[in-house]
Formats: sequence, C-alpha cells, structure tokens
Amino acid sequence: MAERDEERSPAGALAGRLGVAWAALASRSTRAFYDRLSTRYERIFRGHGVHAERMAAILARRFAAPSRCAVLDLGCGTGLSCRALSRRGFQVTGLDFSARSLALSRRADPRIDLVCGDASALPFADAGFRAVVSLGAWRHFADPRAVVEEIARVMAHDGVVLIGTFPPKLGGFFAARAGTSTGRLAAAAYSLAVRALGHDDDVRAAHERLTREALAERFATVRIVPSADGAHLVRADRPFIAGRSRPATPLRRSPGPRAGSGAPA
Ligand SMILES: C[S@@+](CC[C@H](N)C(=O)[O-])C[C@H]1O[C@@H](n2cnc3c(N)ncnc32)[C@H](O)[C@@H]1O
Repeated sequence: MAERDEERSPAGALAGRLGVAWAALASRSTRAFYDRLSTRYERIFRGHGVHAERMAAILARRFAAPSRCAVLDLGCGTGLSCRALSRRGFQVTGLDFSARSLALSRRADPRIDLVCGDASALPFADAGFRAVVSLGAWRHFADPRAVVEEIARVMAHDGVVLIGTFPPKLGGFFAARAGTSTGRLAAAAYSLAVRALGHDDDVRAAHERLTREALAERFATVRIVPSADGAHLVRADRPFIAGRSRPATPLRRSPGPRAGSGAPA
C-alpha cells in the first residue's frame, strides 16, 4: 500500500509482501490495516526514512527559525517524518486515524504532539501552521479536494505544503507498465478491488490529477519535484486567502533530479 523496502533479501522482501497482503485481506478498512501493520510498519517501509529526511531538509532551508515554525504531518503513522522534523527543531503535530500507529510514535518521541483524526476534517484552528507535510498517505485520502481545502484553511499565508507520493508498485507490476494502457487498467482494477475490500487506496492518475488541480486552485505556486526512483514530491506555496482572486498560475515542473539521487528532493 506504500513504498516497500526493496533493499532487503528476496526472502525478506517476499515475507514483507505476504504480510502486507494478509493484513490488507484481513482488515476491512484502511485504518484497521494500518493498526494491524503498525508494529511491523517501520521494518516493512524502511525506505520512507530517506524521503522524510528530504522533506525536513526542504523545510529547514525554507524556514530560518524552526522553533517558531509549527508543522503538521498528515497521515503521520508511526512518526517517521515527525521525528525527522523534530530533530531539526520544528514544532511538530502529527495527525493520523490509526490509534496504534500513534501509540508507537508517542513511545518513540513523547515530545511530539499527536492527534487522532481524519485528514479531511482537521481539528485545528485556521492559519495555525507554517507548513503541512504528508508522506505516503495521500493516495488513501478518498476525497483529496476536501483535504486540500482543510490544508489551505489551517495554513498561514506564507505556508508550504509538501506531499510525498510513491508510484503504485505492487511487486513492480504497475511500475513496469507506468503510462501504458495496461498499467492504467491495472491501477483502476487494483483501486476498485481494494475499495471492495473496504480500503481507500486510489492509485489512479485521476486521483493525482484531482489533487494537483485542487492545489492549483488554493495555492499561488504548485511545483512537482520528480526523482530517479519514481517517487515524487508535490510542493505548493502560499495559500490564497479566502475571497482573494486567483491569478492563472500554470503548474511548473521542476528540473529532474540528478541521476541516482533516488528520492524526492
Ligand atoms: C503509508 S502510511 C504513511 C505513514 C508515514 N507518513 C510514513 O511515511 O511512514 C499512511 C498513513 O496514512 C494514514 N491515513 C490514511 N488515511 C487517513 C485519513 N483519512 N486520515 C488520517 N490518516 C490517514 C494511515 O493510518 C497511515 O498511518
């Protein structure tokens, strides 16, 4: 359901995949799936750590005084990104609907503020965060437009959003066919099949397109930062204040990564 660690032995990787598949079949919702997986999550999805560090580094370059900068991590899970941000001195709040994942995050770093809730209805006041990050969680958001609206609401006028997404992999099947009609069909079939099981895991291009459109309506600039491993980062800056009209700003694609960088930057 997210980027698995591809570095381990083939047997370890296979065991990880089977574990994920079993947890998906045995759970009847995305929340139950992540609750079930929580104790093994950071072992299975070890590769997320690199991306969490990249996001934290981008924010550290953007904000000179992290201790005065409140950052919200949406779909924080067991807290990988929260900890990367906290180590750099940011005031971090993590939100997730998996209570078990939050309990593990709390154990790993009790100083981080953690809230159990849904990303599409944020329990926070307007304009309280300078940055919102979300890593590997976006495809689980059934209504990405509602989440973008909520992000824009809770952000300060000079805010930054970083959304880290991974390509749908499923053992390399989709990745190998990315951009082909077979790949698109497979992604649609996967998304519908997991929906029938009770999960939200929308890997269709339409979900990403909707997200980018919603961001472009709400933020002054939206950029896509691709990377060599196919993971990419969507960055949006400066939300429009309600009522202010939106200039026509086309999406800008940043220059590609240097060969071998292997992560969103
Ligand atoms: C792939 S994990 C990513 C966790 C963490 N960001 C990381 O990179 O390790 C996706 C997380 O999103 C959470 N999630 C999915 N949909 C959510 C929603 N609507 N509201 C809150 N959390 C959600 C799941 O519980 C899970 O912890």
